[in-house]
Amino acid sequence: NYIKAFAPATVANVACGFDIFGFAIQEPGDVVEVRRIDKPGIVIKEITGDDGRLPRAAEKNAVTVVMLHLLKHLGITDLGCEVTLHKNMPLGSGMGSSAASAVAGVVAINELLGNPLTRGELLRFAMEGERIASGSAHADNVGPSLLGGFVVIRSYTPLDIFSIPVPDDLYCTLVHPDIEINTKDARYILRNEVSLKNTIAQMGNVAGLVAGLMKADYDLISRSMVDVIIEPVRSILIPEFNEVKKAAINNGALGCSISGSGPSIFALSRGMENARKAGEAMKQTFADAGIDSTLHLSGI
Ligand code: HSE
Repeated sequence: NYIKAFAPATVANVACGFDIFGFAIQEPGDVVEVRRIDKPGIVIKEITGDDGRLPRAAEKNAVTVVMLHLLKHLGITDLGCEVTLHKNMPLGSGMGSSAASAVAGVVAINELLGNPLTRGELLRFAMEGERIASGSAHADNVGPSLLGGFVVIRSYTPLDIFSIPVPDDLYCTLVHPDIEINTKDARYILRNEVSLKNTIAQMGNVAGLVAGLMKADYDLISRSMVDVIIEPVRSILIPEFNEVKKAAINNGALGCSISGSGPSIFALSRGMENARKAGEAMKQTFADAGIDSTLHLSGI
């Protein structure tokens, strides 16, 4: 009658794979607690770590919207449930904050019901949490937060998602500058048309990154971590982006780009020591510009 679930932060897009690539990191992550109560209906009992900013109405919060969708799908009308959400990452950070809440929520309620659905089947419900939080039901944060590891969304209609292996000693550096970017805004500024030239360049990099990860070919990974479509537009929203990226590359990272819709910046490195060195240089670059930042290091 009581379940506690954890779902990790994620890095979406991974340079060239806008809306189609994402991977999970180990920490931080959101925690959701659900407890059965007698009175039917889903209520949010408490949210910690959001400074009171997230909606408390069940039909407006990603963590409970996913539960309502799941219950509707299963035809369950009499369940009473009290929900507590512990937000362990900042909102609007580019770390998949809303996705982590949605995933922890849907995993918790599924478990409370005795796991009627598999992890894979939970995905489309978790995507509804993204829709309410950011106006678009993208899967590149909820996918990896739910399944772990590196995930590719081959298609949205119909939904076709799979995981690929990554080299054991691939590490992620994630630096979150103390500013906020709303995903809705960061999507709104994107152009809807892409030139054939940029499409070709991006497709080459997408293919190269998948092959590089699967073959543990670090040079290929490095050459392929290039985004000619989204990063040039969105990077103007992130102060010091070019300098921070340069610092990462000059300090041993294989590649560096915006994490999700930003402002967090991520790098991939071979080995934990390179990841740490890159991270310290990235953090220092923000500090030199008077911007506080938080550094996370993680395997993938
Ligand atoms: N692919 C999404 C975007 C991820 O870049 O808008 C948002 O975290």
